[in-house]
Amino acid sequence: MATPKGDPEFILRAPVIEDSGDLFEMSNMPRYRWGTSRLPFYSLAECRAYMERIGTQTRAISAYVGPRMVGMATLGRYEGRRAHVGDLGIGIHDEFHGRGIGTALMAAIIDLADNWWNVPRIELIVYADNETAIKLYQRFDFKIEGTLRGSSFRDGAYADSHVMARWRTSPPTP
Ligand SMILES: CC(C)(COP(=O)(O)OP(=O)(O)OC[C@H]1O[C@@H](n2cnc3c(N)ncnc32)[C@H](O)[C@@H]1OP(=O)(O)O)[C@@H](O)C(=O)NCCC(=O)NCCS
Repeated sequence: MATPKGDPEFILRAPVIEDSGDLFEMSNMPRYRWGTSRLPFYSLAECRAYMERIGTQTRAISAYVGPRMVGMATLGRYEGRRAHVGDLGIGIHDEFHGRGIGTALMAAIIDLADNWWNVPRIELIVYADNETAIKLYQRFDFKIEGTLRGSSFRDGAYADSHVMARWRTSPPTP
């Protein structure tokens, strides 16, 4: 199991509804909000509802230090003619950045997509100035495919976002 910085208390596993409180804390951190589309004052009820909505078309992987959830990544699979495409989301608690947790979650999502769920294309949207996230995605072979101008409103201004995607490079053959 991945152990960022050799922390023996670090694990990755599926979240449970009881982690809603940790998601509530994490989602209301300033850096987390800056990098995502969360509104301020995201409520515990909204966090619980979000966790309850995670169904069979979404896989969630959470990172824990001991019993505390400190990060989460999701891969939501589209349906029908878009069933080969997954939508990625990721966020780490502000106090746990730079410890390799994002890297561990990305590796787990890619393993899930490539080796278990057979999702060859993964898409995401990232603020154009979120250099840390863009660098992380590029390390996992995501490429910028386009820019959405002013597609989000953040801290008093319209913000540009990039659409990024990764194709599995070597599709398995029967
Ligand atoms: C983007 C994010 C997921 C990265 O997670 P993380 O756990 O900090 O990432 P890692 O520790 O695995 O580090 C990944 C890279 O980013 C760098 N990095 C991480 N935090 C950094 C910081 N605060 N300043 C500068 N670089 C940083 C690391 O050095 C590493 O670079 P390297 O590969 O050259 O060593 C995390 O910062 C986050 O959750 N941000 C808020 C929410 C967000 O922006 N989500 C993305 C939505 S699209």
